[in-house]
Amino acid sequence: MVKVTVCGAAGGIGQPLSLLLKLNLTVSQLSLYDIVNANGVAADLSHISTPAVVEGFQPKSKDDKDTIKKALSGSDIVVIPAGSPRKPGMTRDDLFNINASIVRDIVINIGHVCPKATILIISNPVNSTVPVAAEVLKRMGVFDPSKLFGVTTLDTVRAETFLAGLIGEDPASLKGKISVIGGHSGETIVPLINVVDYVSEKAAKLSKKDYDAFIQRVQFGGDEVVKAKNGVGSATLSMALAGYRFTLQVLSSLSGEKSFAKVPDSAYVYLPGLPNGQQISAKYLNNISYFSLPVNLENGAVKSLVNPFDSLSVSSDERKLIDVALTGLQKNIAKGTSFVKSSK
Ligand code: NAD
Ligand code: LMR
Repeated sequence: MVKVTVCGAAGGIGQPLSLLLKLNLTVSQLSLYDIVNANGVAADLSHISTPAVVEGFQPKSKDDKDTIKKALSGSDIVVIPAGSPRKPGMTRDDLFNINASIVRDIVINIGHVCPKATILIISNPVNSTVPVAAEVLKRMGVFDPSKLFGVTTLDTVRAETFLAGLIGEDPASLKGKISVIGGHSGETIVPLINVVDYVSEKAAKLSKKDYDAFIQRVQFGGDEVVKAKNGVGSATLSMALAGYRFTLQVLSSLSGEKSFAKVPDSAYVYLPGLPNGQQISAKYLNNISYFSLPVNLENGAVKSLVNPFDSLSVSSDERKLIDVALTGLQKNIAKGTSFVKSSK
């Protein structure tokens, strides 16, 4: 019996993500919350012949504080794709002023209603919205760092697709064989390709031009979609798949399934609060407090982090990319943290 709530369920990501969750046979309750059209999306999905019972929750007015609480009540997993997407010319950081308060307010409700839920944050800028969520939960005295994740899986999905094209492999065969760490914007995104021998061997034969183009394309893949959509939004369908893929990793951990991937998918987490996170951060990451690393999960929570410096043979080029990422991340983290610390 697993209840999943999607906040922002009527949006470009929310709808296809909710469809994928409705198709998952381990989900027993699917709660769809949005400030618009949640009831319509729920009615539509509820006709699909799978076990999950779907309910829509849409506030009746701006003052309605109860509907979101009803939506969240009893949730095991809350996925948050609520908030505005980018338009051409914007950075993810430009979304902070709108989305930070949306995430803050949803997470306050999670803290009240279902503080033990696993929280997956999709809303951008992820590098800052996750610190916003953590600070809110810390303030409320209910922060469990092992259950708060920024969803960065789309970067891994892109890396698999783009690298497969360059080395002549089936993209699906690269799942779990390369890794993306760091954050989720531009130069904070760091793809690691020296993870599994046959991939590393083929990737090592890439020309410098191809390797640099690969890194650039993974780091700025989001911009490619924003440009192509030309003002109508950013990645939604590939993101729904990526968000579902990470939710599946959480769902599998809840049902005790073992993963056989060489590396599990990464997520952006609070390192000081995690078993080996503090140690990785102090030794290799300049004491950064948030970073995306491959996460081994158990019962919906981080069991351990894969230390890429121990087990994924980080190259000197990749180390340089990590150093650049750390500089950008420090600023993004400070922005999210101070937003909550300076609010009443
Ligand atoms: P969208 O505008 O299509 O959908 C957003 C939905 O959120 C809308 O239905 C809107 O009504 C809803 N919403 C707004 N305020 C809300 C609130 N207070 N409570 C509940 N719902 C609320 O946008 P989208 O394309 O689905 O993107 C959503 C977010 O995901 C954006 O911030 C985008 O940048 C981000 N995103 C992240 C990744 C990632 O890799 N993490 C990838 C793609 C997009
Ligand atoms: C992405 O990577 O596609 C998302 O973060 C959306 C965006 O703004 O690029």
